[in-house]
Amino acid sequence: MAGEPGWVPPGVDTQRANVARVYDYLLGGSHNFLADQDVGRMITAVEPNARAIGRANREFLGRAVQFLAAAGIRQFLDIGSGIPTQGNVHEVADPAARVVYVDVDPVAIAHSKAILAENANADIVNADLRDPEKILGHQITRRLIDFSQPTGLLLVAVLHFINDGEDPWRIVATLRDALAPGSYLVLSHGTDEGKPTAAHAAEEVYSRSVAQVLRMRPRADIMRFFDGFEIVDPGLVPIPLWRPEAPADPTKYWGGLVGVGRKP
Ligand SMILES: C[S@@+](CC[C@H](N)C(=O)[O-])C[C@H]1O[C@@H](n2cnc3c(N)ncnc32)[C@H](O)[C@@H]1O
Repeated sequence: MAGEPGWVPPGVDTQRANVARVYDYLLGGSHNFLADQDVGRMITAVEPNARAIGRANREFLGRAVQFLAAAGIRQFLDIGSGIPTQGNVHEVADPAARVVYVDVDPVAIAHSKAILAENANADIVNADLRDPEKILGHQITRRLIDFSQPTGLLLVAVLHFINDGEDPWRIVATLRDALAPGSYLVLSHGTDEGKPTAAHAAEEVYSRSVAQVLRMRPRADIMRFFDGFEIVDPGLVPIPLWRPEAPADPTKYWGGLVGVGRKP
């Protein structure tokens, strides 16, 4: 469209908010438009802590990848990886680690391709989490990930964009079954635990203004994603409370529960 910046891939509807760009806005990024900013502002109106929650989520991702790296994980499958920002997996993990990013968003894909162009160890797959077989069988995944060796599977702030009717638990089980023993699942998921009014107001904002569902699930539903994994300490906790580097306020609503599980 005339007047749009050169980085916008063809066919992107910048008049309609989308998940990846709203998150980019909340993180203070520059790959978003008025429609995304409007939704970001609606979200901060229902949950004033929204930007801090976004940052806390990124920081959790960084700490979890460091934890996996220390446990010897050298290959990562990061699904719903988003528009690249600070602390991407290939920047946090061992420099020789292999990383496959996966997303459906054209801006996330184009920007990831640009920053990874010279990187032989990392690439992005354009695929939908709802089609895990396509992700597992994709030639980029097969080139970079050796499924006979332990893998770090990241599902960070993405499963809450999948409806119950599409059975996200089956999707995670399909991915889990492809992983070697000693692999890890890193999970962050929106919850209504602690502040159901704000959580359900956020769901409403997404259903009205973003072309994707948002499901803020209760703890028990999120815990089920760890079926077949042994959850590591401290278990499933509010985002900043997972092995924190600095103290966080445990009484605040942090919007999501996070955890790391190991496949025995
Ligand atoms: C909130 S962002 C999270 C980005 C990153 N994982 C993080 O936590 O910083 C969610 C990302 O998931 C992607 N996404 C949403 N639904 C998806 C699906 N069905 N398949 C693949 N990616 C999806 C969006 O495009 C977006 O980039």
